[in-house]
Amino acid sequence: MALGGAMTGKGQPAPGGNGSPAFRGDGGARHLLEACGISRTAGGKRLLDGVSLSLDRGELKVLIGPSGGGKSTLLQCIHFLTPPDEGDVLLDGESAREMSRKNICLFRREIGMIFQDFNLFDHLSARDNVAVALRRVKGLPKKLAYERAASELERVGLADKWALYPAQLSGGQKQRVSIARALAMDPKVMLLDEPTSALDPELIGEVLKVIHDLHDGGMTMLMVTHQVGFAKHLTREFLFMEDGRITERGSPEELLKDGSGTRTSDFCSKLSEIQGGP
Ligand SMILES: Nc1ncnc2c1ncn2[C@@H]1O[C@H](COP(=O)(O)OP(=O)(O)O)[C@@H](O)[C@H]1O
Ligand SMILES: [Mg+2]
Repeated sequence: MALGGAMTGKGQPAPGGNGSPAFRGDGGARHLLEACGISRTAGGKRLLDGVSLSLDRGELKVLIGPSGGGKSTLLQCIHFLTPPDEGDVLLDGESAREMSRKNICLFRREIGMIFQDFNLFDHLSARDNVAVALRRVKGLPKKLAYERAASELERVGLADKWALYPAQLSGGQKQRVSIARALAMDPKVMLLDEPTSALDPELIGEVLKVIHDLHDGGMTMLMVTHQVGFAKHLTREFLFMEDGRITERGSPEELLKDGSGTRTSDFCSKLSEIQGGP
């Protein structure tokens, strides 16, 4: 499976100094993505309380924490699907808060979202699920959209499954179609919200392999996952989130080492008990 193509080189530091957030919008921002002081209240509850994080080009960060802690809400706010009440998101130095409605649509297009439950159209084949956005959003003619869909399906190892409908695909294959669909939009960043949580254990590996290959290809990603054993080898930073805040952040080695006494370590050992891991 060959992933990569035109992605940015992994881990290359973007130009710029160590100062405050860059607002240059010239593609040379210090971080590729910055979420600054994101807060959101809904139904009288503070779901997010001043959350900040950044992603460098080619970086994968992992968000973990108990259910209800605000992880999905945070991804939705970063995507501006649900605009935050306070705070801002900068993509390549461009402030989403300051964008016109039209530019927000372009901003969203540059952020690929992968959901736990795939979000595929049941009445469309794998190829059409990928091609539909290329035609409607990017305005590609059918032939070009199909060619691009074929190459994205090949990237996720599904070249021979293009004619199948979601009901004919396994959960792992459906998730790979949804990743192919996101990749077809040439995202700068991908936000993955528990991409393997809805999968049978034997299907998790095939999706993790695609994510691993994307990382090797230089894709910038923020992933909510409980696959700690997988994630700790790919990320330099775990973000532990509960009650709408990031309460711990650090390298997996630092947060998970014996005797660290961190919430992250406590949470991960409970997870591995449930998952039957080491
Ligand atoms: N629109 C909403 N109105 C009120 N509460 C909400 C809304 N959306 C999510 N919540 C609540 O916000 C909290 C955080 O949810 P979520 O972001 O889904 O957490 P996680 O992804 O970490 O499990 C939960 O308590 C959830 O019930
Ligand atoms: Mg969630």
